[in-house]
Amino acid sequence: MKSLTGQQIRRAYKEFFAARGHSVFPSASLVPHDDPTLLWINAGMAPLKPYFDGREIPENPRIVDAQKCIRTNDIEEVGHTARHQTFFEMLGNFSFGDYFKREAITWAWEFLTGVLEMEPEKISVTIHVDDEEAFDIWHREVGLPKERIYRGTDDNFWEIGEGPCGPCSEIFYDRGEAFGCGSDTCQPGCDCDRFLEIWNLVFTQYNKNADGEYTPLPKKNIDTGSGLERLASLLQNVPNNFETDLFKPIIDKTGEIAGRKYGVSAEDDIHFKIVADHLRTVAFAIGDGVLPGNEGRSYIIRRLLRRAVRSGRRLGIENPFMYRLVEVVDQIMGDDYPEIREKRSLIERVVKTEEERFHETLSEGEALLAQSMKALKAAGTTVISGGDAFKLYDTYGFPIDLTVEIAHESGFEVDRDGFEAELEAQRTRARQARQANEGMSSQRGALETLTTPSTFVGYGELTVDAQIVAIVQDGELVDGVGVGHEAQIILDTTPFYAESGGQVADKGEIVSPNGRAEVVDVRKAPHGQHVMTIQVTDGSLHTGEEVRAHVDAEKRKDTVKNHTATHLLHKALRQVLGTHVAQAGSLVEPDRLRFDFSHFGPMTEDEIERVEALVNEDIWKDSHVVIREMDIDDAKALGAMALFGEKYGKRVRVVQAGDSIELCGGCHVERTGLIGQFRIVSETGIGSGTRRIEAVTGRHAYELGRVREGQLRQIGDLVKAGPANVVDKVARMLADMRVLERELESAKARLNHGRVDELLGRIEHLHGIPVVRAALSDIDMDGLRQLADELRNRLTTYMLVLGSVHNEKVQFVAAISKDLQAKGFHAGNIVKEVAQIAGGGGGGRPDMAQAGARDPGKLTAAIEKVDEIVASIAGNVQA
Ligand code: ALA
Repeated sequence: MKSLTGQQIRRAYKEFFAARGHSVFPSASLVPHDDPTLLWINAGMAPLKPYFDGREIPENPRIVDAQKCIRTNDIEEVGHTARHQTFFEMLGNFSFGDYFKREAITWAWEFLTGVLEMEPEKISVTIHVDDEEAFDIWHREVGLPKERIYRGTDDNFWEIGEGPCGPCSEIFYDRGEAFGCGSDTCQPGCDCDRFLEIWNLVFTQYNKNADGEYTPLPKKNIDTGSGLERLASLLQNVPNNFETDLFKPIIDKTGEIAGRKYGVSAEDDIHFKIVADHLRTVAFAIGDGVLPGNEGRSYIIRRLLRRAVRSGRRLGIENPFMYRLVEVVDQIMGDDYPEIREKRSLIERVVKTEEERFHETLSEGEALLAQSMKALKAAGTTVISGGDAFKLYDTYGFPIDLTVEIAHESGFEVDRDGFEAELEAQRTRARQARQANEGMSSQRGALETLTTPSTFVGYGELTVDAQIVAIVQDGELVDGVGVGHEAQIILDTTPFYAESGGQVADKGEIVSPNGRAEVVDVRKAPHGQHVMTIQVTDGSLHTGEEVRAHVDAEKRKDTVKNHTATHLLHKALRQVLGTHVAQAGSLVEPDRLRFDFSHFGPMTEDEIERVEALVNEDIWKDSHVVIREMDIDDAKALGAMALFGEKYGKRVRVVQAGDSIELCGGCHVERTGLIGQFRIVSETGIGSGTRRIEAVTGRHAYELGRVREGQLRQIGDLVKAGPANVVDKVARMLADMRVLERELESAKARLNHGRVDELLGRIEHLHGIPVVRAALSDIDMDGLRQLADELRNRLTTYMLVLGSVHNEKVQFVAAISKDLQAKGFHAGNIVKEVAQIAGGGGGGRPDMAQAGARDPGKLTAAIEKVDEIVASIAGNVQA
């Protein structure tokens, strides 16, 4: 057998099939496209499903590729076995209605024995129990002896959920008895490491439908899959996948960081493998745009990363380190997977941020878990409550599966149902909080049944003449509403925008022949009408009356500036930070805008500046904002950005402002130039992987500039400098200040020194005890402690009690040498007794203690108390 690197095998495979008329496809993204049945691409055939079931016709019916795959059903096994991985590469050749079993089998044989030079006698195969055709090809054409062709049953029908499937033939390589379990029944398919399954040839001729039925496919296809890491373990003659060149450099680098070696301790090796496997998965997933989070794919990435961080700790690594391994993945795979090389710095940043975040709470969470397991054990149970698991999840970021795993390691179970119940309760609380915000729900009543249409004309008109079609007060339809009352009102035509898509409701006024009302809010009713909440300020309004409705034009004009700016901001963020940026929410008001988006860490000053500049450049271009209605498919073809998770109808409204194209139902400026100016006010984090930008436009941006200029002028006035040299001036003043601070420090030190000398001169021997006691003026607690420390350095046997009044507060320190402590002198007790005289308390250790008191007038008396204390303790000792 040849000896080849992972990269050489991958390339040899593609070349072999390319020479046989196959088009070489790059690996598809790990994130399935248009396939709701899959969370991840988990086999080479998965991204090619449309070709298998005939929805699409490939240009060339022969395809070869190396496909990135993620399988997460056995995460806990990773590290404990030779071959379990969450990320792997599957080499595959495919035929769509072109060649079938004969070529699939003979080419596989040719590749293994010819190109890789495997010994033919070490190869055996399985076939489906009824597959005579495959038997004949293996036996008669390839020449494989009958004894090495095994007829399997269930195992030889390949399917993975819904989709293309069929009988298959698996190819095994015999690694020899040394790898075997020794059992008499050991043969291909045995769980031990002797017969290694290296290739699966699937003769895809059915489609498994959602209802579990199998229907024959229009054409017969071939789907094959060979795990690259397994082939590499054979060709590199190593006992497991992790020791191949596809993993080993990651393990070595981990070992370097940990200061430990792979292959020394079985326990450590498990963790080395977990780190290496999970890192590859996480790196490739992030490369394909999946960020760590709390749901779906994002949750899996978070879970794997956190699991690996924990393994790192088991190896003695206490700091973020995984991000440093990304470089190694790039070295191993970057040539053939350019996305890893291109996105490397992004991947490193995401991994590092996630590691840092988890480290912040990991030890605390682990301690909490250990503590509660100890308590539970003492109470005679081994079940961790749902509440505790939820706390670990909610407060410490422990994915539930991690808690379960840690629990299992100590023989504990977790009450998963209890956990789910807590999670659901939290969701309900969040939902209720949202509903409470939505306000109108309690007042709906009559609005639920009202189907009278109302036309919204507010995209173009801000003042219209209209008729009142309904008034609802406290949930009941009423004929009219009088001054001082609040009600909901529907007009046949309305210019008022109802809050939606982040844009707040319009404000304004409705004027009737006999009354006037202020519009304070606008919401959509269950049947879609825009319902204005009004407060009647004059006279009364009645159903059927003709009224004039005015939107507050100034507020609306400010709002639309912010709305269009939000779109420009979204686009600029994707340009500067990357296309992983997705809108997570927005608020568009007249005087500011707020935009939430997914991103893994704080933006740098430079990024913020670049984003702000890009938006302003779009404003200066003064592009016409084009708004059109079209079919959703046309909008998608245009590249319009839609909000993830939002449901859109068939017809959509598309807003195009400069290069930004978004689906949006809101109101916008006619030309970007009208926005005037855009300024970012703040950029902050609002929880896992989500950032928030607050910004202003138009007059508010101008006002912000004025306010800042005003502040600058004020600073200039204070430091007596004009705007042009205020920075220099402040810098100089700060430098001067530092010099002064240093001078002050040394002056204080000299003073202290003098004080120490003076205090040393005042040592008195009371009952044979050298005592320093003094009431000093105006020294703070730090100063007192420093003095005490200096004195302690200069004396061997001493009792010190110093007091001082500083800022109206009395403070004491006491210190006692070791030999005197042995005679019953205790600094904590002494300082307490002294402080009590001045109305205070305190205490502490026997060698040094401090106390505070309230009555400055009693400082001297308190210090004099020292004599008494000495007398009493010394008296006791003598007696
Ligand atoms: N699709 C087949 C497998 O994953 C080749 O084993």
